[in-house]
Amino acid sequence: MSPHRPPSNIIIRQTTPEDFNQIIEMGRLIYSDLGTWSMKHLESHQHIFPQGQLVAVDQDTGKLVGSSASLIVLWDDYDLRDSWHDFTDHGMFTNHDTQGHTLYGADVMVHPHQQGRGIGKIIYKARRDLTRRLELRRIRAGARLRNYGKFKDQMSPEDYVLRIICGEIGDPTLSFQIKQGFRVLGVVRDYLHHDEESCGHAAVIEWVNHQAATRKDTYGRDRKFAKPRKRSMKPIDDAEDSDQ
Ligand SMILES: CC(C)(COP(=O)(O)OP(=O)(O)OC[C@H]1O[C@@H](n2cnc3c(N)ncnc32)[C@H](O)[C@@H]1OP(=O)(O)O)[C@@H](O)C(=O)NCCC(=O)NCCS
Repeated sequence: MSPHRPPSNIIIRQTTPEDFNQIIEMGRLIYSDLGTWSMKHLESHQHIFPQGQLVAVDQDTGKLVGSSASLIVLWDDYDLRDSWHDFTDHGMFTNHDTQGHTLYGADVMVHPHQQGRGIGKIIYKARRDLTRRLELRRIRAGARLRNYGKFKDQMSPEDYVLRIICGEIGDPTLSFQIKQGFRVLGVVRDYLHHDEESCGHAAVIEWVNHQAATRKDTYGRDRKFAKPRKRSMKPIDDAEDSDQ
């Protein structure tokens, strides 16, 4: 995919209950067997942390073309290897903690007919803006390794992630997240255990808000998943985050 300008007719705004049916419909199209949000989940998100729930809307048609769902967590309450269900309280966000410093990305999706047009990119810009506004130190999420199932007989999930970081292979989710300025902290083997595409595996990813984070917040990182610095590759740091 070549670099592109996000479409100018798309706006990002906070989710309202009127959006719920379209979010559920889009989730069904995207995740099919994996399952998606129910009305009960979306009502809970809206009640607990309305600011964290965003939708992308096409202003020409009024239709919803993307969405994202986030909550705040106190990272010390969790282990890097915890699952999506642990970090989101089974999708209900009742573990949302305003004392936390981490925006946890529970989901991001773009309508299948609209993918590859820069909409995911502007949703992530809105997430970073929210993180800065709330003075949170970071965004973390589990990026499910969508294409790993195709490589499972050839390499471990860790090697798969390393090869994506090096740009040797592409993954529909992780390659996108890396382009959004995220770096990989580790690999979790049972993040979404019923996800056949990824065989349940995900990469734990992080974007650091340097306006709020201190040196302590990034000190002592395992360098295993650091991106090699080649002349041909842009480094994954805030230099890539052009929305400062
Ligand atoms: C992942 C997803 C949100 C990306 O949204 P999108 O609107 O298609 O992505 P964009 O068009 O904004 O792409 C942004 C950048 O990522 C890159 N990118 C997107 N998909 C990519 C892929 N499959 N491989 C490599 N790069 C990719 C684009 O080239 C673009 O880079 P550029 O800025 O250099 O042009 C979307 O594809 C989606 O909804 N996937 C299914 C749901 C899902 O798996 N969500 C993640 C749950 S962990």
